[in-house]
Amino acid sequence: MTTGTSRIDSPRVALLHGPNLGQLGRRPSQHYGTLTLFELNGRVREWGAERGMRVGCFQTDDEGSFVQHVHGLAGLVDGAVVNPGAWTHYQWSIRDALELLDAPFVEVHLSDVGERATREPHRAVSVIRDIATATVFGKGPDGYREALDILRGLL
Ligand code: DQA
Repeated sequence: MTTGTSRIDSPRVALLHGPNLGQLGRRPSQHYGTLTLFELNGRVREWGAERGMRVGCFQTDDEGSFVQHVHGLAGLVDGAVVNPGAWTHYQWSIRDALELLDAPFVEVHLSDVGERATREPHRAVSVIRDIATATVFGKGPDGYREALDILRGLL
């Protein structure tokens, strides 16, 4: 999937982060590592550039702002990488908005939500998994690179 060139010239990719991800660097490092969101965004932009992709980053703790941002992206992006944080597990409005994106998106989680779900059952549910092109979790920041590779194979 990482070989070959994109069909779209310089695909535009939205990197979307949900609540509390702005606090990366302060959150429990055993789950989320030590990178700040600023550093993570920088890495993903670089990985995108290496793959000929333009990455635009957005984070909010506010559900309405997230939904409206996704509405505004329709037609402007070729794909998205989305970590909705805790909204993943229950927030149906996020799913409805992503359905309107009209572009493939990959769901990413820094932590191993599958393993954590054995102790915290709410993390077993994702309300977006069945409409995502793919889901990557438990790989830390590298999961975002994998998500870009998945999108690159499609675009
Ligand atoms: C997360 C996992 C979620 O369960 C959690 O609520 C988060 C971050 C992750 O990246 O591992 O805020 O999406």
